[in-house]
Formats: sequence, structure tokens, C-alpha cells
Amino acid sequence: MEIRVSGILKSLIVICLVLAFGCSKKSETENYKIGFSQCISKDDWRKAMDHEMEVEASLYTEIELSIFQAHEDIEVQKSQIEFMIENEFDVIIISPLRPEPLVALVERAYDKGIPVIIVDRKIKSQKFTAFVGANNLDVGRNAAKYIASLNEKQSNILEIKGGDNSSPVIERHLGFHEIVYQEANMSVVESIRDNEIQTRIPQIIDSISVNPINYVFAFNDNIAYDAWKIAKSKGVEESIKFIGVDGLNGENNGIQLVENGVLAATILYPTGGDEAIKIAMKILRNENVLKDNILNTTVIDFRNAEIMNDQYDRINKHQKDIESQQKKIIEQEETFSTQSNILKLLVGLLVTSLLLAAYSVYSANNIRKKKRKLELQNKKITLQRNQIKKIAEEVKISNDAKVNFFTGLSHEFKTPITLILSSIESLSENKTIKDNKILNEIGLIFNNSKRLLRLINQLLDFRKIEDRKFVLKASKTNLIKFSKRIFQDFEREAQKRNIDFKFIANSEDLEIYIDRNIMDKVYFNLLSNAFKFTPDNGTISIEIKNDPESNLVNIVFKDSGIGIPKRDLPEVFKAFFQGSNNNKAGSGIGLHLSREFIEMHKGTIEVNSIHGTEFTIKLYKGTSHLNTDDIVYEPDIIDRSIIDFNFDYEDVGFREINPKSEEERYSILLIEDHKELISFLKNKFIGDYEVYMSDGTDAIEKALEIIPDVIICDVNLPDKSGFEICEILKKDLRTSHIPTIMLTALNNKESYIQGLQSGADLYLTKPFSFAVLSQSVKTVIYNREKLRYYFINNIHKISTDNSFGLYAQDFLSKINKIINDNLDNSKLSVENLASDLNLSRVQLYRKTKAILGVTISEYIQNIRLERAKSLLQETQLSISEIAYATGFSSPNYFSTSFKGKYKKSPKTFRQK
Ligand code: FRU
Repeated sequence: MEIRVSGILKSLIVICLVLAFGCSKKSETENYKIGFSQCISKDDWRKAMDHEMEVEASLYTEIELSIFQAHEDIEVQKSQIEFMIENEFDVIIISPLRPEPLVALVERAYDKGIPVIIVDRKIKSQKFTAFVGANNLDVGRNAAKYIASLNEKQSNILEIKGGDNSSPVIERHLGFHEIVYQEANMSVVESIRDNEIQTRIPQIIDSISVNPINYVFAFNDNIAYDAWKIAKSKGVEESIKFIGVDGLNGENNGIQLVENGVLAATILYPTGGDEAIKIAMKILRNENVLKDNILNTTVIDFRNAEIMNDQYDRINKHQKDIESQQKKIIEQEETFSTQSNILKLLVGLLVTSLLLAAYSVYSANNIRKKKRKLELQNKKITLQRNQIKKIAEEVKISNDAKVNFFTGLSHEFKTPITLILSSIESLSENKTIKDNKILNEIGLIFNNSKRLLRLINQLLDFRKIEDRKFVLKASKTNLIKFSKRIFQDFEREAQKRNIDFKFIANSEDLEIYIDRNIMDKVYFNLLSNAFKFTPDNGTISIEIKNDPESNLVNIVFKDSGIGIPKRDLPEVFKAFFQGSNNNKAGSGIGLHLSREFIEMHKGTIEVNSIHGTEFTIKLYKGTSHLNTDDIVYEPDIIDRSIIDFNFDYEDVGFREINPKSEEERYSILLIEDHKELISFLKNKFIGDYEVYMSDGTDAIEKALEIIPDVIICDVNLPDKSGFEICEILKKDLRTSHIPTIMLTALNNKESYIQGLQSGADLYLTKPFSFAVLSQSVKTVIYNREKLRYYFINNIHKISTDNSFGLYAQDFLSKINKIINDNLDNSKLSVENLASDLNLSRVQLYRKTKAILGVTISEYIQNIRLERAKSLLQETQLSISEIAYATGFSSPNYFSTSFKGKYKKSPKTFRQK
């Protein structure tokens, strides 16, 4: 519909434009072409003829006049006529040079139906439309009659004819002689051609006494004037009367020559230029025209020359007026045509805009309708979308709930499994168990718990992979050592089942960047599968193929197991896929996870099965395939599975803390709401530490009350989270120094960062090895000891040194300031100091002891003595003055105390 309307609109616009511009074109096409071939162009008479034609033609707007000059060349004139015929001129006007040569062409034009007008001179044919010109017989007669009218006794006449044989020359001669013969006293003494005048006239004049001449009749005024000039040069001009033809006005033309007395008379010979155009117009307008249009001729002599001249002047003036009016008319016509074109354009535009306006109203209406329709559709869609969104949200909530439940449950499984594994760990360490049966059962429980833990970890990994939460932590690793360690884990199983289990590597050292934890899972999965599907007495191998030329390393896991059917091969890495020949239980995600893990390393894993199964992992060497964020530093030691009977910490390099006596035992506050776990931990720590417990609800109160040496805190607690508890304790001056170990099942990066941000000193994830936890406790205590040692030996530096923990430094700076401000005050007591710091006496005591390893009184005393020592070295103050200045109540007490610390009396110290 729209297309149709726009088509109509386009046509309307085109019609308007045609209406606007088409009219002027039409009038242009109706112009008439009139052509005129002029035989001679050099003299005024011819120019007058052309001019008359132009003036007359300008009166008709429909005429287009073209004048062609032949310059007295008959061939040129012929070609001009031919051209006009060819180009279908509407009227052809010819002033023929001679009567004969043009006959054929004129007749051709005439036969073709082109009107032909002959002007001035005649041709020898009657096949033309009209003739315009004066009667040249009459011209000759009038000249002769004029001479006769002068009544001379004898008129001896010299006739000077034109140079050619044109009709005027012939007819003027005949007419003139006709009258001369009738008159007895008139005779033509000699007749010459105009080209002879320069030679003949002087001779005639010279013999004038013998052959008297008193008249010259020249065939035009120019010839007559030339003859007069010769006569004048001979001084005989007065005795001869000169008569010419043409009677033009203007400088040195007939009328003026008559007025000047040069000529006695001139016979008016009108050009007929205007008349020719008038006749042409009549022909074009299909009006009747006469074939012969004879123009009047008359004699101009001294009696009427002036009048004629005036008339001509007037005519000329009129003509000029006409011309200027004509010019104005043309200008006005042009203006009119421009304006009318503009008007037409405006009308066209107006019509177009009206049409456009109508169209836009129509379109607006259409659009409105469509919009309304669309709005309705939109509403429907929005409604549907909202419904879908709601359903999707419900599905998501339900799905999230399921997944969260499943994840939570998996996390929940981890703690009891950890407990089981840790308990077995303790049992296995118990040297009193000698019974093999029990040891076997312990091994069974251990292996199955480990498998259970692995499965749960696989499920959690799968969820993490789905959520894209895995972060690669690649560290420089000796791949041979790494692979060998895992290989060793399976050796016992291989031995038991008599499987030929080989580790082959073509190089000793090969360092590549891998996430050891992740790659451990891949190896474990591939080897578990190999062992699962390889019958006893079979073969399994791990082969590392390192080509130094290539930037890839190949790790091939090969077994002689049941293999994988060809059709299953493309599917094996898909989640939850169960092989068609596999009747053994499995989660179906192990290989899927393996491939995801390898791809996290930008590597590839491929499977092949001809005899048994072969998995090939390709990993990149170097680091260019990894992001800088993916690379971490980790000492190149190979962690075994963290739950391991043979776990050995020697490599880690922790320093053993000597067991302490009952009183010196460090205290631990355990914050954990899992009853079994807390009692397990309590039992494990109780021999070596003073153990306090909180289920999380009273954690802060307990910490403030006890000021323990170490806090072990769970994250998921009933009241406040472990992070919150840790943050509160770290911000409190009383507890800020206590090392805190976070213990949690949340093992993602964000939780880890959150733990550290809350101020935790260590972050251990469940399942944890008790050995690791126990060593961690020892390490944080050891570090605290080191710090304490540093503090006590750098008392003066403390306020400026930034190397201490933020909280300890802040606390010590405050204490130092109070002590230094009160250095000369012997009454500065621990109570004063505690209340200035907003602490209880006991809290201050415990905190100072924890950070500095000395009591607060000892610490004050140390500062006093240090200051006294420098005063002794640097000033001339007396010992008693120094004693009072450093806050000792008496010089004696100062001396005793000084000697107690520095083993010298102040006096001896100063002397030395
Ligand atoms: C001009 C002229 C006139 C004469 C006419 C005859 O070329 O010679 O003087 O009257 O032609 O055709």
C-alpha cells in the first residue's frame, strides 16, 4: 500500500514539474527559420537592406532570421541556398548575384515546398514564390525623363553601367535608352562599365571640346560620385550634371550628394528588405501574397532632397526608437519569462508541498495505526516476557537452592571426612597398635574416606568450573619430579595387582609452569581410570616426551585395559558420560574436569584406543601462553595429598619450639561451632597448650578475658562470622597482637582475600591436616617470639620503625609516648598507664607480655634505664640529677637498678 502511494506521489510531482516548465518549451519549438542569402556585402545599399530585414524581423517573436553573406561569390551563394534547403528553413530569401546560376537550386527549394522570395535582382525562372523590388526599367526611364525635363538644347550623355549583367543593369539600360530615343535633343554619347571609369572618363573629358558631354548617368550613386570626383579633378564638374541611382541617406550617399550639389539627381531605388520579411510572414501565416511586389521609385533632386533626408532621418529615428523599444521588450520578456518560470516553479512547489502535506497526514495516520498495533504487541510481549522472567526466576531460585543445597551438603561432608581422616591419622601414628587386622581395617577406612573426599572434591570442582570460579595459580615446577611423586602413590597398588607400572622420561629436568593442585587432580584422575580398567597383570605407563626443539611437552598415560569403543571416543570428555563398555560405577565428570583443567593451562588432551587406552596431554613450555595474573611463586617442592600417613614436614623448614613447662604453656582459643571438630582439636592440642573453647557466640568476650597466645577461628559461625570476629579482635588494642588462624571450608580466592583483609595471619582450608594446623600454630608463635625479641632490643626505634605489624606498632607508640612524657615522674604506675590506654591492668599486663615478653613494669624500668644510660654518656648531669630526671624515687634505687641491668654502677659506667 505504502509503495503504491509513494508511486502516485512521485508521478504527481513529475506532472507538476512538467506543468511548471513544459509551457515555455512548447513556444520555443514553434519558431520559424527564415534564411537570407545576400550576394554582395561591401556597400551601404546592401547593408541598408540587411538592416531593414533585421528591424522588421525583430517585430515578430516567432521569427529567427539568419543572414548569409556570399561576398560576390556565386559558389558561396549556391552552398548557402543548399544549406537552407537541407536544414528545412521555413522561408528562403535570395538576392541573386546573377540571373542564371541559381535557377536549379531555387527551383529545387520551390519544388520541395519551401517558399522562395527573390529580392532586387531577378533570375531566369518563374519557380519562386514572390519577387520584391523596384522596376529597373522605370529607374532608367525616370533618369532619362529627368534629363528631358531640364529642357537642354542638346543633352549629350555618358552612361556608366554596373560591372555585371544583372537584371538591374540590363533593365536600367533599356529603360533609359527607351526614353532617350524618343527625345530628339538627347543622345547617349558613350556607354561604359563602372570598372572603366578611371581610364575612360579622363579621356572623355580631355576630348570634351570635340565631343561635348553635359550629363553623366551612373547606375548607382557611388559610381556617379566617383565620376564627379574625376571631373572635379579636371575642373569640369560644373559643366556636367551627374545623375545616380539608389537615393540612400547618410554620409556621401545619394540624398546628401544631391543636397551638396554633387549630383543633380538620384533615382530612389528602395532595397525592399522590410518588404521581403513582411511577405515571408504573410506566407508563413498562410496569407495570400502577390508574386510580383514592385516597389515605388522616384526622382530626388534639389527640390525634394531635403524633405527626403528629413523623412529618412525621421524614419531612422523611428527605427532607432523601435529598436530600443524592441530591446526593452526583449528585456521585459526575459524578465517576464524568468518571473513566470519562478511563478510556475512556486506553483509547482506549492502543489508538491500540498501533496506532501497530504501524504504526511496520510502517513502519520498510518504510522499511528501501526504504532498502536505495535504497542499492543509490545504489551503482549512484555507480559509474556515478564511471565517468562518470573518463571525463569522461580526456576533459578529453585535451581540455586538445589545447587546451594548440594554445594552446602558437599561442604558439610568435608568436615566429618576431615575428622575421620585426622582420626585415622592419629590412629596410624599410635605405635601401640600392632594388630595387622586392625591396621588393615584402618587402611580400608582411610582409603575409602580418601575416595569419598576425592569424589566430593570432584563435585565441588565441577560446580566451580561451571561457575568459572577456578583461578589458575601456575608455578614453576619440575615436571619429572612432580610426575614421579604421583607415580609413587600408585606403585603399591600396581605391586598388589602385579601390574607392570612404568615411568618413562627422556630428560631428567624439565621445568614448566603448572597449577600443581589442579594438575595433581588430572594425573590422579587419569591414573585412577587406568588402574580401574586395567586387569591384573596388565601394563600402565606414564611417559614424558620432551622434544627440545618444540615448545610443547607430551605426557602420555597408556594402559592395557579394556579400551574405549571407537564411537565413544568423541564423547569421553563430556560431563556425565558413561562409556558403553563400562559397567563400573563412576561420576562421569573426572575426564570432563581433566580436559577443563588442561584447557585452563592452554594445553590439549586427546584420547586414543587401539590396545587399551592412551591419553596424551600437550602442555606449553615457558610462560608466554599464560597471563601474568596466572603465575605465582611456590617453592619447587611437591606437596603430596595433604592427608597422608607419611606426611613429612622436614622440607618446610619450620623451627621446633621447645616444649614448655605447665606455667609457660602457650594458650590457644578455639572458636568453632562444630562440636566434634572442636573436641577433636581440643584433644589434639591439650597436651602442649592451654586450650580454651568458644562456639562463636562468646568469642570476643572470651578473647578479651583470656588474651590467648593464638586464636584458631572457623568462618561459618552462628552469631558473627569468623571474618567479623577476627576484624573486631584485630582492631581492639587489647587483642590486636594475637595471631589468628582462620579455618574454613571456603576455599575460593574471594574468601581468602576477605580473611586476610580481616587481619587473619593464616588462612587454612578444610579438609586440613592436623599436622599442618599444628605446625601453623607453632610457626605463628615462633614469629611472635621473633618479633618480641626484636621489640625488646629496639625500644627506641619502635615509634619510627614501620617493620612491625600495624596494631603492635600503634600500641607500642602509644605506650612509649606516655612513658617518655612521664619519664621524670616516679609515681607513674601500671594503673595510670592502663587507664590512659583504656585497658584493664591485667589486659595491659598480658598484652605487654605477649608483645614484648616482659612485664609492663619491667618495660617502664627498661626505658628509664636506657634514657639514664644515654644521659650518663651525653651530659654532665650528676648521678642523682639523672636518677630524678629518669623517674627513680632515689639515687640509691637508681644505682641498684642500673647495676642490675648493665652489671656496672652508673659511676663506673660513666668513667669507662
Ligand atoms: C548595390 C547595387 C545598387 C544597385 C543594385 C542593383 O550592390 O549596385 O547600387 O541599385 O545593387 O542590384
